[in-house]
Amino acid sequence: YFIGIDIGTTSVKIIATDETGNVIKTISKEYPIYFPEPLWSEQNPEDWWKQSKQGLLELLEGLDKKKVKAISFSGQMHGLVTLDESDDVIRPALLWNDQRTDKECEYLNKEIGQKTISSWTGNLALTGFTAPKVLWLRKHEPENFSKIKKIMLPKDYIAYKMSGVFATDVSDASGTLYMDVKNRKWSKDMLELLHIAENQLPKIYESFEPIGNIKSDLADELGINKDVKIVIGGGDQAVAAVGGGVVESGSCSISLGTSGVVFTSNENFFVDKNNSLHSFCHANGKYHLMGVTLAAASSLKWWVEEINKTKDFDGLLEESEDAKIDDSLFYLPYLMGERTPHNDPNCRGLFIGMNMTHERKNMTRAVLEGVAFSLRDTFEIMKKMSIEINSISINGGGSKSRLWCQIMADVLDVKVNKLNTNEGPAYGASILAAVGYGLFDSVEEACKKFIKVTEGIEPDQDNVNKYNDKYKKFVKIYPATKELFK
Ligand code: XUL
Repeated sequence: YFIGIDIGTTSVKIIATDETGNVIKTISKEYPIYFPEPLWSEQNPEDWWKQSKQGLLELLEGLDKKKVKAISFSGQMHGLVTLDESDDVIRPALLWNDQRTDKECEYLNKEIGQKTISSWTGNLALTGFTAPKVLWLRKHEPENFSKIKKIMLPKDYIAYKMSGVFATDVSDASGTLYMDVKNRKWSKDMLELLHIAENQLPKIYESFEPIGNIKSDLADELGINKDVKIVIGGGDQAVAAVGGGVVESGSCSISLGTSGVVFTSNENFFVDKNNSLHSFCHANGKYHLMGVTLAAASSLKWWVEEINKTKDFDGLLEESEDAKIDDSLFYLPYLMGERTPHNDPNCRGLFIGMNMTHERKNMTRAVLEGVAFSLRDTFEIMKKMSIEINSISINGGGSKSRLWCQIMADVLDVKVNKLNTNEGPAYGASILAAVGYGLFDSVEEACKKFIKVTEGIEPDQDNVNKYNDKYKKFVKIYPATKELFK
């Protein structure tokens, strides 16, 4: 068996697959998230480990434990985990969706300058990224900062607990903003600026590389062999792309998860003109670009659960199927600020253009369209960079809605493929485990074997034309309203 462990934001998901890519068993265990102040978001790394270990014990129950060959990881990206000289966690981890680092980002992007930061790292400073969190800790908790012996990312903490090896991988390290992404190594300039030394940081591996074997006492506790390989794995977006077969140059995926992502796999390192996309290393040894809209499926969740006070997602979606495309009713999905393309933590969600004929079904449709338009913003930047996109697959919870998939195909004017697997990052991690074990020569080879298209959704040309016109109006709303939320 190959085991993939995904350290998500609400839970850890663990999956066991066999040598043909079949999913044998999955387990998921939740842990708490803390919001100690507005805009703060934290978790205890010990909770991730406690639940991962418990989850592994439950996963292995009833399986032939001696068949486990390798374990790998996927994890929520960007989180700042700090350990002291006894390897104890110093303070709760600051997470990817923590927005406290506005000032630190302003310092990096304005005082040091976007051009400089981008030339060192390939990216701009965003509140979610790790480097601004390091600056925040240094300024606000100097005592904690001075205790730091090791800095790591969420999944690296679990890999460390399981192998004793202080390691990270290129895809996750890309989201720290202290890595030189193009050259796949730590950026000396950024480390100097942050007052951290290279020996406080893990060694960087490719995502499919084994870093060692499982710790012997842990192997005994779990009842698995002592030569089970620990493969480092990667950041959840890159690993989800592996799990969705997005590894060939020019392949692209759309993820309708809590956040929404347009992701392309690229042979070479690229940066777009305004640096609005994330330019990161991919988990297959190459590179990728992605744009993120922060509230995708969470916009729908908010609309259904908080505003309509129901859990009947299917009912609301079904009802909205006969709402026509309305060229004057818009939703902007900026409930949590926005990353791509605005990089603006202060912008907010909007419904705009209602009239007396509008009902709930029209508003539901506007939510689905607003998220699709926001993802089109990323898509347009990619098109301008002349990136050739050969195929698009769709994944994430929102992709269960046929209507939303059709709207995505119509808004982007592309065929959207659904796949035989929708397990996402945990599945991708099990693929990396199989590659690291040596079952395949490359991630591409593994994906070719395991992942198949089951359905293609073609754009409807009539809707494409309507959405082209509607998108032209959509892009005017943010610049016209942003001052309201400063
Ligand atoms: C990627 C990102 C999220 C987190 C949480 O840049 O912030 O995808 O990794 O899942």
